[in-house]
Amino acid sequence: MPGLLLGDVFPDFEAETTAGKIKFHEFLGDSWGILFTHPRDYTPVCTTELGRAARLSSEFLKREVKLIGLSIDTLEDHHGWSKDILAYNCDESGCSSLPYPLIADGKRELAVALGMLDPEEKDKDGMPVTARCVFIIGPDKKLKLSLLYPATTGRNFDEILRVVDSLQLTAGKRVATPADWKPGDCVMIPPSIPEEEAAALFPAGVYSKDLPSGKKYLRYTPWP
Ligand code: BEZ
Repeated sequence: MPGLLLGDVFPDFEAETTAGKIKFHEFLGDSWGILFTHPRDYTPVCTTELGRAARLSSEFLKREVKLIGLSIDTLEDHHGWSKDILAYNCDESGCSSLPYPLIADGKRELAVALGMLDPEEKDKDGMPVTARCVFIIGPDKKLKLSLLYPATTGRNFDEILRVVDSLQLTAGKRVATPADWKPGDCVMIPPSIPEEEAAALFPAGVYSKDLPSGKKYLRYTPWP
């Protein structure tokens, strides 16, 4: 992702969306945000992904996260395809419209500016389409996490929700989350916190795992 690093303020772009014209920072307000891109409207993997995001939208809302999608398709296609997404994914959960807007980046301006094109995946005119990017932006408008998948690999939106839980927890507490962590599990104490400070910071207990090296760096504490 050329030019955009963790901790950078996310560009405050203007865009045409299925919910009208937006200014990105104004759209985010004080919320967290997830900007996620897909290669093309009316394609199978994208239909499953956007449907999964729709079905999880109440979970994102609970966490005060605003979702917004993007591809290089037109607003007309976004509106038409939304009906297919809902018909395929949301029959039983009763969604009547996509619970998040879609940006129409027909001129690829944002896709180029944010390094979101997939050079391996081209449209019928030989032009690259958008990859499957995920940018998670904090209430301070700074980039907290990014993912970049190729067109041929659909994302796991439960994992995206899981990383939001980790990002929101670690934004407020001096802890880190281990592999496959989920809310309720123990968290880890970062190496930068000395032993005495850790004991004071985590009154629920600091547990360290004995290791062959004798070093006490694998330190856990109950979910704070
Ligand atoms: C899909 O969404 O199914 C897809 C889109 C572009 C390339 C490959 C798959």
